[in-house]
Amino acid sequence: MGTIEDEAPSGLKLLYRMMLQEIYWCELHLRDVLENMEERAYKEELKAVFRRHRAETSDQVARLEKIFYLEGMAAQPVFCRGMQGLFDEGWQVIDQTDEGSAHRDAVLIVAAQKVEHYEIASYGSLCILAQTLAAQEASRLLNQTLEEERKADELFSQLALPVRKTEPVPVSDPAVHIMKQAIKGMDAGAGSRSTKVDGGASAPGSADALLVDDNGEPKGRRKSPERKK
Ligand SMILES: [Fe+2]
Repeated sequence: MGTIEDEAPSGLKLLYRMMLQEIYWCELHLRDVLENMEERAYKEELKAVFRRHRAETSDQVARLEKIFYLEGMAAQPVFCRGMQGLFDEGWQVIDQTDEGSAHRDAVLIVAAQKVEHYEIASYGSLCILAQTLAAQEASRLLNQTLEEERKADELFSQLALPVRKTEPVPVSDPAVHIMKQAIKGMDAGAGSRSTKVDGGASAPGSADALLVDDNGEPKGRRKSPERKK
């Protein structure tokens, strides 16, 4: 099996250009998606992260347009099946949560991080391809966007930070507050439409399976009731 350098340059160039067009499609749609997510978020801290990243996304669109110019290409978006799948999955789960609830915020964070991870993977690969093709300016611009995506992912992680026994977080911390509210909401609902499975346990991979209780234990690992003798 050959290495990346063994591939025909024209093939790599084709892959690079196709990936640029796909991520361009993603960014154009993400501007609207992030605006919708901001509207649906409950907590102001989360709204602010969506707002900030939407502004960055407009810069990312402009950078891609500059790269198209450098490549001598028209800025032509190409449908990205992978990102569309994440959008579809995200909205399906978000729509099953109550408006103005902390549960919705938790689900929004999960959906947003899946999108960020997809973008990080795409821009990471694009940076390598640009370097391999000796497209220095494009590589610099792509790397700038990659850093913004990583930073956005980090901010979402901070908002979803679990409470750890060894590292107590002040109660006033907005992230802790959001997650505690989400946990309370889920317990009160005894499993939402989006997460409840037969028997009332958390579905694997569901939002409440990812959360932790006040002792730092995963919420998904619920003890079954003791049997009566
Ligand atoms: Fe982006």
